[in-house]
Amino acid sequence: MTGQVRGVQLARLLGHWHALPGRRRSPDYAALAGTVRGLLADGRLPLGVRLPAERELAEALRISRTTVTAAYRQLRETGHLASRRGAGSWTMLPGNHRVASTGLWTPLDDREMLDLGVAALAAPPQLLTAARAAVEDLPRYLGGAGYHPTGIIELREAVADAYAARGLPTSADQIMVTSGTQHALDLVLRLALAPGGSVLVESPTYPNALAALAGRRARITTHGLAADGWEPDLLLGSLRQTRPKLAYLIPEFQNPTGHLMPAALRERVVAAAHAVGTDLVIDESFVDLPLDGTELPPPVGVYDRHSRVISIGGMSKPYWGGLRIGWVRASAPQVQRLAAVRVGVDMASPVLDQLVAVHLLADADAIVAERRVQLAVQRDALLGALAQRLPDWRVTVPRGGVTLWAELDGPVSSALARAAEEVGVRLAPGPRFGLDGTMERFLRLPFTLPAADLVEAVGRIAAVRYDLDRTGRQRWREPAVIA
Ligand SMILES: Cc1ncc(COP(=O)(O)O)c(C=O)c1O
Repeated sequence: MTGQVRGVQLARLLGHWHALPGRRRSPDYAALAGTVRGLLADGRLPLGVRLPAERELAEALRISRTTVTAAYRQLRETGHLASRRGAGSWTMLPGNHRVASTGLWTPLDDREMLDLGVAALAAPPQLLTAARAAVEDLPRYLGGAGYHPTGIIELREAVADAYAARGLPTSADQIMVTSGTQHALDLVLRLALAPGGSVLVESPTYPNALAALAGRRARITTHGLAADGWEPDLLLGSLRQTRPKLAYLIPEFQNPTGHLMPAALRERVVAAAHAVGTDLVIDESFVDLPLDGTELPPPVGVYDRHSRVISIGGMSKPYWGGLRIGWVRASAPQVQRLAAVRVGVDMASPVLDQLVAVHLLADADAIVAERRVQLAVQRDALLGALAQRLPDWRVTVPRGGVTLWAELDGPVSSALARAAEEVGVRLAPGPRFGLDGTMERFLRLPFTLPAADLVEAVGRIAAVRYDLDRTGRQRWREPAVIA
């Protein structure tokens, strides 16, 4: 059991449950149960939480207790609720409804496949120039042993300067260079989370973060994102109720939904985390990629007075994933402790790669500006193709980042991914981003491939989507690549 939803909170999540389409044909209790099932399947209502007592929910919804009793009974019958007399009722999903959200998910080497499973761009043309310049710089480092557990000073300074430019004064000794953001997360978890510790994450969230958390055997609580992003009262309520050791959040162009957390909520989250003793791990992977001139709120760290916020980020999204350069921004003593942890993992990052990063960051304004233009064009091509070929899908136009989160016309995401693979399109189905098989009505679509490839991919997806209806839904078979 990871927490409890109060009557008023559930009432807010249920929204206009009594006025849903097709509603006239079903009795109140069935409509209520159906809406709860939908919230569970979409990850908005977490699994394993205690629902309010029947009387409390009836009061919050202003309906009779008999209706709630009947709805809870139906939810038990369909495997969505487990009850114990005197102890309450907990949410669950029926046992046959599972797709692993963790496991290997890497780009394919198969060049024929249109890979929409991975949300990352090909390298910018400036990468080769930066690599050549880095080789020229290398002799300066060759006289030493080459181990720099927190990173070479030039890169730490460049990263610290970039934080300062965003309004968060930072010194080089607050930066530790890592082999990508994923490595940064792993090191932070090793430092800040004992095995089995409790963690709050967004739902949906980045699957490889879930993999890192699984590696620590973390106990996970979720905050279900709504169609327009975080629900402040529910998020703060979850923090206060579950008091997790750590919360992992992606405030800028959240992967996969693309949401941007407003400044006011950033401030409130930091205050609430401090009040309950939660450390915040803030993943800023997409912070360089606002589109359409979208203004960024201040970094979450701006509101931190008590070293509660550990920020992680890296070069993979604006520059190139193959560089494997990321970082942690924390207090100087935390960075020293991270360096000590790292000695037992990989000692240090390669010097040459760090020098390449220094050169890329020196040219950041030009490179990132080009990336934004490229991403906006590709996003618009993807949106156009979706509107034309799959008009029943609902998408919110992301104001940054590299992904959009499509709401499908049915719970077919895994079946669609399976079928798409047969026609040369690789997809990461919704359940990859949820827990325990939630998110079947959603699909993440990155706009990191060239526009023509995106249009071609949507055409093929549309074809198999309509085939699915004709041939009946295929059951998800675990493809070898997920492992
Ligand atoms: C939110 C988030 N965090 C971390 C990563 C991993 O980044 P890196 O390649 O820097 O390890 C990604 C990559 O998709 C991501 O989307």
